[in-house]
Amino acid sequence: MNNAKRRTVIAGNWKMNFTPAEATAFINEIKPMVAGKDNCDIIFCAPYVTIAAAQAAAEGSNIKIGAENVHFAESGAYTGEVSAKMLTACGVEYVIIGHSERRQYFGETDETVNKRTLAALAAGMKVILCLGEVKEERLAGITREIVSMQTKLDLAGVSAEDMKNIIIAYEPVWAIGTGLTATPEQAEETCGQIRDVLVELYGKDVAEATTIQYGGSMNDKNAAELLSKPNVDGGLIGGASLVASKFTAIVDAAQ
Ligand code: 13P
Repeated sequence: MNNAKRRTVIAGNWKMNFTPAEATAFINEIKPMVAGKDNCDIIFCAPYVTIAAAQAAAEGSNIKIGAENVHFAESGAYTGEVSAKMLTACGVEYVIIGHSERRQYFGETDETVNKRTLAALAAGMKVILCLGEVKEERLAGITREIVSMQTKLDLAGVSAEDMKNIIIAYEPVWAIGTGLTATPEQAEETCGQIRDVLVELYGKDVAEATTIQYGGSMNDKNAAELLSKPNVDGGLIGGASLVASKFTAIVDAAQ
């Protein structure tokens, strides 16, 4: 963090939580708590049906509301899916793509992550691209290979110019929702490895300008240490993004 070349981004991933009324109450509660804390961008990614309520509550504040997924087609016979055109029509700028829960439970692959990413970028959206290794891969010592492969496959066809609209979220799958957190050293090492891949793909300037978040049980207690690492440019937060005091403490750690 604290690299003048890139923004720190603290984003909440609400996952399948909050009705519209609950989202309104939450945003109204947290809005004054994070007001004026402008050293980082603050985003909450919400379930589709909750987005409008969250946006209305966040209006005029420093909080932005994003989505948790997007389909790659513009329209058509894709029951249950939502297109980038629909999201931008609703004023949604940010979208999470490739979250490990989508990869684990809903058949998301690097190929579909890449297609969704290209579609979102073409629609002018900003993408929070999630990737990370599973426990067996970490134990086998192949984390670098896994995140390198994911970075390359997920970003295939993404231009250097488009990288302005990409945030990468490094989320070790074994740390998500488990209470296990990567140590600051592990987070730093792997975020640095991802940045090395960006250097390879796009050169140093683009790599240095790209925000790379850590996600996986980041909370009010461990955020400051994780965010103190030079290659950790923010957080993608699940559980702690549902509690105003905890999320605010993470924003404070990023100031
Ligand atoms: P937790 O913070 O609940 O571990 O979730 C992390 C995550 O999946 C954010 O996208």
